[in-house]
Amino acid sequence: MAKKYKTALVTGGAGFIGSHIVDALIRRRIKVYVIDDMSAGQKKNINPNAHFTKMSILNPAFPKYLKKIKPDVVFHLAAQINLRQSVIDPPADARVNIMGTLTLAHLAGEIGIKKIIFSSSGGAMYPSDAKIPYSEKTPPGPISPYGISKRAGEMYLHYAYQVHGIPYVALRYANVYGPRQNSKGEAGVISIFAKQMLAGKPLTITGSGKQTRDFVNVEDIVRANMLAMNRKVVGEFNIGTGKETDINTLFKKMAKITGYSLPARKTPEPPGEVARSALSGKKAKKMLGWEPKVKIDDGLKKTIRSFQKK
Ligand SMILES: NC(=O)c1ccc[n+]([C@@H]2O[C@H](COP(=O)([O-])OP(=O)(O)OC[C@H]3O[C@@H](n4cnc5c(N)ncnc54)[C@H](O)[C@@H]3O)[C@@H](O)[C@H]2O)c1
Repeated sequence: MAKKYKTALVTGGAGFIGSHIVDALIRRRIKVYVIDDMSAGQKKNINPNAHFTKMSILNPAFPKYLKKIKPDVVFHLAAQINLRQSVIDPPADARVNIMGTLTLAHLAGEIGIKKIIFSSSGGAMYPSDAKIPYSEKTPPGPISPYGISKRAGEMYLHYAYQVHGIPYVALRYANVYGPRQNSKGEAGVISIFAKQMLAGKPLTITGSGKQTRDFVNVEDIVRANMLAMNRKVVGEFNIGTGKETDINTLFKKMAKITGYSLPARKTPEPPGEVARSALSGKKAKKMLGWEPKVKIDDGLKKTIRSFQKK
C-alpha cells in the first residue's frame, strides 16, 4: 500500500486538482515536493507542509531538480489546460503538454521513479460520434490540439513503460469541479456560474444549453489518484460518472442553491464544441476499485459554499 512510496512530486501542485492531491498525500504522511510555475497556480493552495519550488517543467534546470529530489512517485498535472487556448496557439500547448511530459518520461528511468500518475483528459480524447458513455475501448480521436497533446503524453509514458519499465497510470478525467477550481478547466462553467450567481450578475449560456457534460467531483478525482498510486495497474482509465448533465439543468440546480432569479442569456455556440460527453468508469471500478461517491447536488453545494467564503 501507500507505505511503499516515501516521497512524491506533484507537478502543477499549486493548481486546482494538484493542490487537493498534495493535501491527500500529506495526510498519508508522504513527503511531498511541489513544482509549479504559478502561471495559474495560487500560493494559498499550496499546503504549508509541502516542499515548494517555483519553476516551469520546461526550465532547463528541471532535470537537475528531478535528479536532486528523486521522487518515488510523480503526479504529473502541470499543463496548458485550456482547450480553446490550444486551438488559438497549438505550439504553446504542445511545448508544455508534450515536451514537458516527454522530459519527465525520458528522465524517469534514469532517476528510478517507481510510478507516474498522469492527469489526462477523457473529455478531449474521444471522437464525438463515438457511443456514449465513452469506454477506454473507444479508439482515441482527439480533435483539439489539447486532446492531441494529452494523447501524446500518454503514448510517451507508454513508451517509458515498455522501454524503461516505468509503470504509469493515465487518468482520463471527465469535467472536474470543486473548491479551488478556476474558469479555464473543463468544468469551468461551474465556477463562472457560481461567481455570477453569488454576485447577482447576469450570465450567459453558450448555445442551446442542451449540450451535456460529465461532472465529476475533485474528491473522487483525488481518490482515483490515490488508488492509481497504490494498485498494481498500468494504462489508461476513464474517471467519470457515466452520467450526462446538460447545461440548462446545471444552471437550474445552481440557481436553486444560490437563490438566483435572473434568466440566462443565450449566445451562439463557438465552433468545435462537443454536443454530448460522458465517460464510463467501468474499467476503473474493476481494476482500480474506484467509483464516484459525490452526488452532483452535494458537490455543487460544497463548491458554491467555497466560492461564498472567498
Ligand atoms: N479541470 C478539469 O476538468 C480537467 C479535466 C481533464 C484533465 N485535467 C488535467 O488535470 C491537470 C490539472 O488541471 P487543473 O484543472 O487543476 O488546472 P490548474 O490550471 O488549476 O492546474 C495546473 C497547474 O499547472 C501549473 N503549470 C502550468 N504550466 C506549467 C509549467 N510549464 N511548469 C510548471 N507548472 C505549470 C499551473 O500554474 C497550475 O497551477 C491538467 O493536466 C489538466 O489538463 C483537468
